Amino acid sequence: MGVKLNLTVLSFFFLLASFADALTLDVRNYGAKADGQSDVSMALAKAWQEACAATTPTKIYIPRGNYRLSQASFKGPCKAPINIQLEGILIAPKNPGQFKQPSWVTFSYINRLTLNGGGTFDGQGEMAWARSDCSKTTFCPHYPMNLAFFFVTNSTVQDITNKNSKQFHTNVLGCKNFTFLRYTVNAPETSLNTDGIHIGRSDGVYIYDSHIKTGDDCISLGDGSKNIHIEGSSCGPGHGISIGSLGRYKNEEPVVGVYVKHCTISNTQNGVRIKTWPNSEPGTASDMHFEDVIMTNVSNPVLIDQVYCPWNQCSASIPSRVKLSNVSFKNIRGTSASHVAVKLSCSKAYPCNGVVLQDINLTYKGPEGPAISACSNVNPKVGGGQNPKACTTKAV
Ligand SMILES: *[C@@H]1O[C@H](CO)[C@@H](O)[C@H](O)[C@H]1NC(C)=O
Ligand SMILES: *[C@@H]1O[C@H](CO)[C@@H](O)[C@H](O)[C@H]1NC(C)=O
Ligand SMILES: *[C@@H]1O[C@H](CO)[C@@H](O)[C@H](O)[C@H]1NC(C)=O
Ligand SMILES: *[C@@H]1O[C@H](CO)[C@@H](O)[C@H](O)[C@H]1NC(C)=O
Ligand SMILES: *[C@@H]1O[C@H](CO)[C@@H](O)[C@H](O)[C@H]1NC(C)=O
Repeated sequence: MGVKLNLTVLSFFFLLASFADALTLDVRNYGAKADGQSDVSMALAKAWQEACAATTPTKIYIPRGNYRLSQASFKGPCKAPINIQLEGILIAPKNPGQFKQPSWVTFSYINRLTLNGGGTFDGQGEMAWARSDCSKTTFCPHYPMNLAFFFVTNSTVQDITNKNSKQFHTNVLGCKNFTFLRYTVNAPETSLNTDGIHIGRSDGVYIYDSHIKTGDDCISLGDGSKNIHIEGSSCGPGHGISIGSLGRYKNEEPVVGVYVKHCTISNTQNGVRIKTWPNSEPGTASDMHFEDVIMTNVSNPVLIDQVYCPWNQCSASIPSRVKLSNVSFKNIRGTSASHVAVKLSCSKAYPCNGVVLQDINLTYKGPEGPAISACSNVNPKVGGGQNPKACTTKAV
């Protein structure tokens, strides 16, 4: 769907316009060669240093071609807005053991960054996925993420592809007013720990018209996620759009305001889900709204799971202390790949509050019979059509 010309998008075009007569730094003039062989990290570092010191808007231009990049860190604060126009393909080293930082390309402490141009970040993660296996052990090697944005504000990533990361594709932490527009994430269904976009402790993150195919959560929201808007986007394959897991660590910040609208989710292990650990630290998550979501062949399309305990790492019998409130699922339709299409499994100690189920139509074909809806420790307000009928079974 087309993005509404809302304030963020409009202001983005004004920001782009301000780069029209910006000083342009072509990375080839800093020694970058698109030969698929030589490392461009020095060239990018030099161009960044100059751009960051400039007192007027500056553009760093990376033309078409294949560039090897060992690692990059773009750090502010800078004096004026910076546009990185990436038309080429940046290629990471294959060997995951080669990295000294937790991410391959890091942007930090920058205000007014625009990253655009139709180019690609290729993490070459195959070797890392073959090694990591977090489902059998509780230890996940800390392989580098493709892109990290730390404390980046008033910024946009547009028309960029991020593929085959060794770990999470995108890590957004401490950011404010940050937009992803027509962002593509692409990794195979079998890749491990390759979340598309992970957001934590950030306020005002907008994900519009973006398409994510990966082996783990398409989008995962950690503690301190505030005012997160996901619209007109698709997910699948992958593990769906997830809030949490929450409650595992001390001093987690509340999650407040998550709006998922007009999205499609296909061939995933989950649809829209909120997960918290049992026997947890206290916490809260409120105002989470899912509307107009089309599911195709999705297991667990609608899921609140407050007994999330993979690999039996916790005492599932002690209830979660994360309080969930003001959660709505409206106009959610399509096909479920599991018998329990709607599952709201809330905490016995802190029942979910203000849950709304409205116009649900999820069908299932399988030996167990038609789709069912299972609930515990929640009494949702039910409206519109309900297929399956709401809460006819007790969730375990
Ligand atoms: C949000 O960021 C955009 C640039 O992406 C900027 O133009 C706009 O002014 C910012 N909005 C606020 C409220 O800071
Ligand atoms: C983001 O932009 C807004 C509006 O232009 C401005 O008030 C704010 O200070 C900016 N944020 C930072 C961290 O510079
Ligand atoms: C249904 O989704 C699963 C992944 O959850 C996938 O493996 C399978 O191929 C999909 N089936 C069809 C018919 O697309
Ligand atoms: C839940 O929503 C209601 C109505 O919008 C609001 O008054 C209330 O403060 C919200 N509760 C929480 C915990 O956010
Ligand atoms: C639910 O969806 C099925 C398949 O698309 C359709 O045939 C049926 O009429 C829908 N039911 C409701 C109550 O909307």
